[in-house]
Amino acid sequence: MNEEKLVIAVDGHSSCGKSTFAKAIAERMGYLYIDSGAMYRAVTLAFMEKGMLAGTGPDQESVDRLLGKINISFRPSEDGGRSDTYLNGINVEKKIRGMEVASNVSLVSKSAAVRRKMVALQREMGRDRGIVMDGRDIGTVVFPGADIKIFLTASAGVRAQRRYRELTGKGEDVSLENIRENILQRDLTDENRKESPLRKAPDAVVLDNSYMTPAQQMDWFEALLKELDSRATKK
Ligand code: DC
Repeated sequence: MNEEKLVIAVDGHSSCGKSTFAKAIAERMGYLYIDSGAMYRAVTLAFMEKGMLAGTGPDQESVDRLLGKINISFRPSEDGGRSDTYLNGINVEKKIRGMEVASNVSLVSKSAAVRRKMVALQREMGRDRGIVMDGRDIGTVVFPGADIKIFLTASAGVRAQRRYRELTGKGEDVSLENIRENILQRDLTDENRKESPLRKAPDAVVLDNSYMTPAQQMDWFEALLKELDSRATKK
């Protein structure tokens, strides 16, 4: 593959391990990793903290005012093991992963004004290339010209099992059936919203990781890199 740094988009359904895979790819390539979902979660928290999601929801003027003042950034965590999300200089990583934000984020990420602002920030982050970004609209809207587009999926049953193990491992009292229903509901919302619905880009490569280990996924990625490389050399 040529020496120029690549832009890599990883989109797909919720709870199928996009972040883990995208992070591993970024590490392998020595690139920046950006979790675009964390950005929508951080805006949602900002809306909640201003009490803007109460009642009939915010008016356009308040949304624009808030978006004008919002600053989202990522910094390495103290132990260096992950990247934490900051909202206006404050570490909000823990808060944005909680249930309250999770249950409001679909509503906020439907807003055209919010999406415009996030897409602009995301493109700015990718200005110097050498980036792996995961989300729902990265290969279709944010970086339609990305060098590699991966669309990740897994069966709803497998995704529910994985999430169930993760949550019960943290001591949460949840039912497998509820989780499965929630996953199917989120797929439906993501795929059917008016603004930037979740779609596979025509030039994306699909990977169903239902029965794959993280190591097998990386082998698949290495093979993909090789194939792209040989295609580029033939040109
Ligand atoms: O990937 P995640 O579950 O952390 O994403 C949180 C929410 O943000 C999810 O409801 C979908 C939405 N999202 C989006 O609309 N566009 C993106 N590029 C990333 C996430």
